[in-house]
Amino acid sequence: MAGLTQLPEWQNLLRHRDALKSSADVILNDPQRLDNCEIALDGLRLNYALHQVTPETISLLVKLAEAQKLAEWRSRMLNGEKVNSTESRAVLHTALRQTSDAPVKVDGKDVIPEIRAVRKRMADFVENVRSGQWKGATGKSIRHIVNIGIGGSDLGPRLAVQALAPYASKLQVHFAANADAFDLLATLKNIDPAETLFVVVSKTFTTQETLLNAQTARQWLTAKLGDKAVAQHFVAVSTNAAETAKFGIPAANMFPMWDWVGGRFSLWSAVGLSVALGIGMENFDAMLSGAAAMDEHFKNAPLARNMPVLLALLGIWQRNFMGAGALAILPYSERLRELPRYLQQLEMESNGKSVSRDGKTVDYETAPAIFGDCGTISQHSFHQWLHQGTGKIPADFIGIMEDDLNQPTHHRALLANMAAQACALAFGNSQAAAPQDMYVGERSSTLIMLDRLDPKHFGMLLALYEHKVFTQGILWNINSFDQPGVDLGKKMARGLEAPTGAASPSDGFLASLHARMGQIGKK
Ligand code: F6P
Repeated sequence: MAGLTQLPEWQNLLRHRDALKSSADVILNDPQRLDNCEIALDGLRLNYALHQVTPETISLLVKLAEAQKLAEWRSRMLNGEKVNSTESRAVLHTALRQTSDAPVKVDGKDVIPEIRAVRKRMADFVENVRSGQWKGATGKSIRHIVNIGIGGSDLGPRLAVQALAPYASKLQVHFAANADAFDLLATLKNIDPAETLFVVVSKTFTTQETLLNAQTARQWLTAKLGDKAVAQHFVAVSTNAAETAKFGIPAANMFPMWDWVGGRFSLWSAVGLSVALGIGMENFDAMLSGAAAMDEHFKNAPLARNMPVLLALLGIWQRNFMGAGALAILPYSERLRELPRYLQQLEMESNGKSVSRDGKTVDYETAPAIFGDCGTISQHSFHQWLHQGTGKIPADFIGIMEDDLNQPTHHRALLANMAAQACALAFGNSQAAAPQDMYVGERSSTLIMLDRLDPKHFGMLLALYEHKVFTQGILWNINSFDQPGVDLGKKMARGLEAPTGAASPSDGFLASLHARMGQIGKK
């Protein structure tokens, strides 16, 4: 089979790029451009009018997706085939939010009944805790939830709790992820153990940071309430029942997940328990139904009018044909301020790969660097670089149309800034008196507009990016669902704490470096 870059579809795109006109020419000559480049689904709109693309660009990109058999791969994933080839696992985050009872089989077994059973247990538990029936060791009700986890066991729940804060009631949800104890201790110093429930989330239950924080939390709790209190104050979410039991968490307090859910795709499982505790099960379910609506769209819409597919194709266009090494994520919403960090893991851990599914080193670029911050905060830090830096970095602008705070002056300013930034990036300003004041423009952006930031639209937004990541992985011919690149450093750190005797040429250097850090620590 020809390599990706040798495909006629790839070569056609290269030729097309070389003949393409400027952004202003491409965008301003079509009076229907804003309409023609918009796809709407249930109060979420994706508009790519500000990309330097023509209808022909989109049709050539779609041909590339067809050549890479995107539709076939999509069916394989949705039907429970083991598309995570290196780990021989199915990839079924979509089954977690499926609204129908249609069976989804892994190794011949329907996973839907287990998903529903765990969701029912979650719902009962959430109701118990939120209603105050679940008592701590001293008989007090729970007021504080501390989610202990890292990566996919932290970033999704943390983002959801922040994004859906107006829907939270009764319980305060806190997060501790870092191996730096400051993270956990800063939370513990303000809360009462008798009113605190720890939710330890770890797919593997072997993650060093999470186990460190969970142990420290347990010491803090048992020092005040005694060993027996663990059963009323700790629950776990994991695939590893043996390790959670070893930690002392009773089986009744353990919410299972499955190896066919990737950590960074797991918010929809019991990994979202802290979110459900914060916003209630009804809102959690609404978030899942929003994601399910995006799943249906992804499954059924033609590729050229398919939101996640288009977002992915525009990313491929920018990365592989326009040379963009990064993508800025700019939510014009304070409640989405964690989105860039969440997408960093989703996109970079999934597609930060340089070996193809068939084990060959690729000769094209894969995932760009993802970075970002809330607009308008970002306008006063790195937008100078976006507008006049030497690279042309594309951006995703995410805006919320509803003024839910009834602050029209703020809201108008927010959206005016978002529109202005996107247009300034595309069109620039060639009329400036001094060269330093010139803006070249030619920087593309995607606008993602949500009618409101409620659980449903939030669920749709995350599912949009999940399917984007999958689509790009298929086009790049890489496995988006493993993460072998995170292991080496973990092993080396473990080796320093408990040497195994296995030697590698750089061991001596690492030991000296570590010793030097020890000296600094002692000063
Ligand atoms: O180190 C990377 C990683 O494996 C992520 O993929 C994952 O989300 C995170 O660690 C946490 O893993 P776990 O949920 O098993 O603790």
